[in-house]
Amino acid sequence: MTSARYIARKRHAIYDAMLRVNHSGELAADRIYFGQLYSLRNDPKYEPMVQEMWNQEKRHLEYFSKQILLKRTSKSMLTPVWDIAGTVLGVMTGSLGSRVAMACTVAVEDTICKHYDSQIRQLIADDTDEHKELIENISKIRDDEQDHHDTGIENEAENAFAYKLVTSVIANGCKIAIQIAQKI
Ligand SMILES: [Fe+2]
Ligand SMILES: [Fe+2]
Repeated sequence: MTSARYIARKRHAIYDAMLRVNHSGELAADRIYFGQLYSLRNDPKYEPMVQEMWNQEKRHLEYFSKQILLKRTSKSMLTPVWDIAGTVLGVMTGSLGSRVAMACTVAVEDTICKHYDSQIRQLIADDTDEHKELIENISKIRDDEQDHHDTGIENEAENAFAYKLVTSVIANGCKIAIQIAQKI
C-alpha cells in the first residue's frame, strides 16, 4: 500500500470513530434537553434556559450528521439506544426538579468538554492544516458545552439532592457510552 493510501485510511478510521461518537453524544444531548424541557415546560425561569441549550444541541447534531455524510463514515449501530437513553435521562432529571436537571447538565457537559478537548489534541497531533475545519468546529462546540456546564453551576446544580452521587453516576454513564460509541 502506498503511504498516501495508508494515511487516507488512517484518517478515515480517525474520522469514523470521532464522528460516530460525537453524533451519538449530540443526539443524546438533544434528547436530554428535549426531555428536560418537557418536564420543566411550566417553569418560567428554566424553560427558556433549557430551550436555548436545546437549540444549540440541535445545531451540534446537525453539524455531525452532515460530517458523517461528507466524510462517508457511519452512525452508531446503537443510535436508537442513545436516543432513548437521552430522552429517559432528560425526562427523569427534569421531573426531579430544576436543580437535578442542572446537575445532569453539569455532569454531561463536563464529560463532553473533556472528550472534545482530547479529540482536538488528537487532531492537532495528526495534522493541524488537514483538520483545520474540524478542529475549529469542535472547538466552537466545546465552548458551547462549557457554557452549558457553567449555566448548570450558576443555577444551583450543586444544591441538588445527592449532587455528588447524581453527577458521578451520570458522568460515569457518559464515559461508558463514549467508549462504546467510538467502536459501534
Ligand atoms: Fe452539544
Ligand atoms: Fe451541551
